[in-house]
Amino acid sequence: MKRVYNYSAGPSMLPVEVLEQAQKEMLCYGESGMSVMEMSHRSKDFEAIIKQAEQDLRDLMHIPDNYKVLFVQGGGSTQFAMVPLNLMNKNKKANYINTGQWAKKAYAEAKRYGDVKVIASSEDAVYNYIPKVNKEDIDPEADYVYITLNNTIYGTHYTADKLPDTGDIPLVGDMSSNILAEEIDITKFGLIFAGAQKNLGPAGVTVVIVREDLLGNAMEFTPTMLDYKVHADNDSLYNTPPTYAIYIMGLVFQWVKKQGGVEAIQKINEQKAKILYDFLDQSELFRGTVVPEDRSLMNVPFVLPTDELNKQFIKEAEANGMVNLKGHRTVGGMRASIYNAMPVEGVEKLVAFMKEFEAKNK
Ligand SMILES: Cc1ncc(COP(=O)(O)O)c(C=O)c1O
Repeated sequence: MKRVYNYSAGPSMLPVEVLEQAQKEMLCYGESGMSVMEMSHRSKDFEAIIKQAEQDLRDLMHIPDNYKVLFVQGGGSTQFAMVPLNLMNKNKKANYINTGQWAKKAYAEAKRYGDVKVIASSEDAVYNYIPKVNKEDIDPEADYVYITLNNTIYGTHYTADKLPDTGDIPLVGDMSSNILAEEIDITKFGLIFAGAQKNLGPAGVTVVIVREDLLGNAMEFTPTMLDYKVHADNDSLYNTPPTYAIYIMGLVFQWVKKQGGVEAIQKINEQKAKILYDFLDQSELFRGTVVPEDRSLMNVPFVLPTDELNKQFIKEAEANGMVNLKGHRTVGGMRASIYNAMPVEGVEKLVAFMKEFEAKNK
């Protein structure tokens, strides 16, 4: 068996230790005599799994007691609807910051339910930077302000100094591609959400962390399954949750703890990203596409001078055990997604290969 370095934007690499643990427990979890996949979601064993997963996430992200942690389904895209359905409830107004395709999709969905405005955008430069927002730009009547903390396609991310100061207006953050990768102060947010398939586990479970006072005011036509309060009141067990995905996510949380928590993981992520960006900055052939101050730690887009060379690079990289490096069609070129589970060696190997490619094709 040969495992490759997989730079996919998601679903993406999982830690080998997690996969091995799952393999060990595949046929029989503990004393249960069955796989977690075969277990009732109301069983004692599964109850312990989901409770432990929630506690570990609370520890890792320092989530205060007045926030609920929910495990729901439907991915980030369902959150694009759940956020307005639940939070756009006072003035039916919301402000969005357009930093890429996912933010735009979230905005388009919210527009179906109220008066929604884009108050800043980086669309003018193919989203290669994070626009600054001043307090005056925010409508004081907005029910919430929405941002995407890491822009998977374009490779930008919010640093703490760029987070908009929304005062008493809840800030909502999509952390699908940077949850548990860098530290954030939850108390700055009313709600954050993340699909699991990049940094947390397999596709199928979505994490929502929401301040308690924001629950219970969903629009009256909100489907039961899209009401956060229903999930909060039932400890994420209102209906059958994605049990196996939650179990694997729990193993990933334990793995992150073993690495030293988010603080330690962030240091490693900074080290990994630096190896790649340092190379791009001095290269005469490759070019990073994002302004230096907003560069993502997770998704690194870069281009070669011609499409022909891009294609050749992707093909040769694949032949060398480095797969899924093709960039998103709107940016072109390449994108290396280097989430938590990508080891430092995976980045070193990629950069060594880029150096070789440059020497041959300059
Ligand atoms: C930042 C971000 N938000 C939302 C989504 C959509 O997530 P899903 O495919 O889980 O609906 C993605 C998917 O890649 C993403 O990267």
